[in-house]
Amino acid sequence: MAEPVLDNGSQLLDFPKLTDERGSLTFLEGSEHVPFDIRRVYYIYDVPKNQTRGEHAHEDLDQVLVAVSGQFKVEIDDGRSRTTVTLDSPDEGLYLTGLTWREMRAFSEHAVCLVLASDYYDEDDYVHNYEEFQRLSRVK
Ligand code: TYD
Repeated sequence: MAEPVLDNGSQLLDFPKLTDERGSLTFLEGSEHVPFDIRRVYYIYDVPKNQTRGEHAHEDLDQVLVAVSGQFKVEIDDGRSRTTVTLDSPDEGLYLTGLTWREMRAFSEHAVCLVLASDYYDEDDYVHNYEEFQRLSRVK
């Protein structure tokens, strides 16, 4: 069941989890368990406790963040409101629509942030300036 976290469509997603005496397995299919076709996968890890990742938005990119190991906090902002989500479960994902400012911090030891993205890497799609993000979020 999807739980909205911001008015811009960002939401928490529950993924399938198959558990038996051998352990657990979660699977994700593009356009089925995440709301887009997956074009790129990357993961962030070995993040020191006091470091922040992200601090940007995208003009046109959907992403899903998953704590496949450990936990971290994601502060998200759609230009109108801001909230913080703790990701700590491999069977839960945080779906972020493009124009969402995100800051990931408080990574635990051995935390791995898996990211599924709707498109290939494109530096021109990044919005690094917070005032520019706010301006864009007012017109889109
Ligand atoms: P960036 O997205 O800024 O990471 P974060 O927001 O977590 O701090 O990316 C860091 C660097 O990695 C930057 O130089 C761009 C590069 N990069 C790629 O080359 N391909 C990718 O798919 C991603 C996500 C980043």
